Amino acid sequence: MAADVKMLFCVGLIVVLTGVGKSALIGKTHGSGGEDLVLQYVVNNSLREHPVLTKLRLRTLQDQWSIMMVSSDQAQFMANLIRLINATKAIEIGMYTGYNALSMALAMPENGRVVACEIQDSYINIAKPFFKEAGVQNKIDIQHQTAMKTLSKCLCISHSRRTHTKRRRTVVTTSCLDCDGKVVNPAPSDQTSQSLDALNKKLHKDQRIDLSMLTVGDGLTLAIKR
Ligand SMILES: C[S@@+](CC[C@H](N)C(=O)[O-])C[C@H]1O[C@@H](n2cnc3c(N)ncnc32)[C@H](O)[C@@H]1O
Repeated sequence: MAADVKMLFCVGLIVVLTGVGKSALIGKTHGSGGEDLVLQYVVNNSLREHPVLTKLRLRTLQDQWSIMMVSSDQAQFMANLIRLINATKAIEIGMYTGYNALSMALAMPENGRVVACEIQDSYINIAKPFFKEAGVQNKIDIQHQTAMKTLSKCLCISHSRRTHTKRRRTVVTTSCLDCDGKVVNPAPSDQTSQSLDALNKKLHKDQRIDLSMLTVGDGLTLAIKR
């Protein structure tokens, strides 16, 4: 990895573990957030969706689990983050049909790489033709295995190269508010919301990172390594 590599980790996995709520989606542009006039205004006046992303979004909406898809405004924000820190590597944990992976790959320079983890081959099969159509298939390294396996490999390499690295910006993004907002007051039996709540609280206290929690999409935590 080059000395000035900047990384973006995207942890979408938490959302799928949370399950899919019927209502009270937090401003998701392709969910009930579509009825939110302020959100519509934001979308109408800021969204610049690549034509292949539009096609992928429309294809994904035909899937019964499409509510899992990242919202377009959130993906655009993350692509802008990539541009801002000149990231050349991103790890997408839980690619689903690849909207966010594609959006990030489009924002990266030619030498950029998105490592996209996904366990379901049906989702990978949906994603691949769109990556090709957008001309970024070489920038997206699909890892068809559990994210844990891929991560341990990536983090191991990253660690072994640390001594050669002069400067590195690492931004970790995670979904911080589950689809149906249960994290606000998680039931004792709801392990997923409990875990998400515990993670949010742990990050809040962690002085090794700068932190922001945004209410975009499913909620987005930015943890920026100091
Ligand atoms: C909320 S969706 C991610 C949405 C996606 N980031 C997007 O751009 O639309 C979560 C995805 O994680 C995948 N997943 C679940 N467990 C996983 C695991 N252990 N390793 C890798 N992927 C996993 C699911 O199959 C699902 O496609």
